[in-house]
Amino acid sequence: MRAWRFHEAGDIANLRLEETPAPEPRVGEVLVRVEAAALNPADRYLVQGQYPRAGAPPFTPGRDGAGVVERPCAGGRFREGDRVVLLGGLTGISEQGMLAEYAAVPEAWLAPLPEGWTMREGAAGPLVFLTAWRALVICGGLRAGETVLVTGASGGVGTAAVMLAKSLDARVIALSRDAAKRARLEEVGADIVIDAGAADVEKQVKAALGTGRVDLVVENLGGPCLNQCVRMAGFGGRIMVVGLLAGLNAEVAVGLLIHKCLRIEGLSVSAYRPEEAQEAWAEIVRRLDANGARPLIDRAYAMTEVQDAFGRLHAGPFGKVVIDTRA
Ligand SMILES: NC(=O)c1ccc[n+]([C@@H]2O[C@H](COP(=O)([O-])OP(=O)(O)OC[C@H]3O[C@@H](n4cnc5c(N)ncnc54)[C@H](OP(=O)(O)O)[C@@H]3O)[C@@H](O)[C@H]2O)c1
Repeated sequence: MRAWRFHEAGDIANLRLEETPAPEPRVGEVLVRVEAAALNPADRYLVQGQYPRAGAPPFTPGRDGAGVVERPCAGGRFREGDRVVLLGGLTGISEQGMLAEYAAVPEAWLAPLPEGWTMREGAAGPLVFLTAWRALVICGGLRAGETVLVTGASGGVGTAAVMLAKSLDARVIALSRDAAKRARLEEVGADIVIDAGAADVEKQVKAALGTGRVDLVVENLGGPCLNQCVRMAGFGGRIMVVGLLAGLNAEVAVGLLIHKCLRIEGLSVSAYRPEEAQEAWAEIVRRLDANGARPLIDRAYAMTEVQDAFGRLHAGPFGKVVIDTRA
């Protein structure tokens, strides 16, 4: 089979498309013929050697994928030919990932491809929607009528957070540096969109809030953005720290934390147990289906174009960058 692998961690250019034997599933694992995979910033960190618990080279990254069951596991709930999506686990972290034509994955981490969804949508959804659900609901405790601020709102996690927050009847303020992406954020339901690059972004958020306040922040950027969020959050606000695209370290105004009784909490999609992920995913799919919505795909690339696809992810997509693994 064809698989993208690196033999030495470092630059993303170390990834090569190679011929390698298809994996042999272990007990409890299913052999999946991968039809589509999706990229995440974590794949890049892993190839660069910056990810904890990464598998030993030669290693295939890819934590998101959808495909067809080629060989079910004995006594399992899936049959040959079933269409499935991967919800998480160690695939693409310490176990060989989805940027390959076949993957052997634990059955507990597979769910049926939602009815009417394409393979691309099935690959694009799980990691970012489960992350956004954890930030909004499981950790963030979002209540209907509250106001959610989403930073890096045009990306995979950001668009998922906007769509899910709207399905939970929250008011959404979305930040993006790009005018075209801000227009699209409005189309997917953001109530207020603001230029994240504007010098007076905080003033604009305050003006948009009127007498209201930011109750919950989905913070995808880190670095200086975290303290900006501390300044923009209202009294009792919860800041859910998801990502670090703008910096690994942050300085926060401790006085504001105290005076506004803020909660800053880091969260990881890896904290899901399989049954918790299955339950959350079923609820996410139910909410998307109820609104006729689907995970947003920025662009699909052929299997041979994975290097270009990583370039697109780095440049800042609107939604997800996906790979057609059979093309
Ligand atoms: N904690 C977890 O379990 C978990 C799970 C998934 C992802 N993550 C992390 O969450 C972050 C977001 O992931 P994602 O998949 O949404 O990423 P993404 O699809 O690449 O999108 C992130 C968006 O953030 C903006 N952005 C990127 N770099 C920026 C910078 N230096 N300064 C300001 N804005 C910047 C861009 O939007 P504009 O160009 O429109 O401004 C971009 O579209 C990443 O750090 C990722 O590793 C964490």
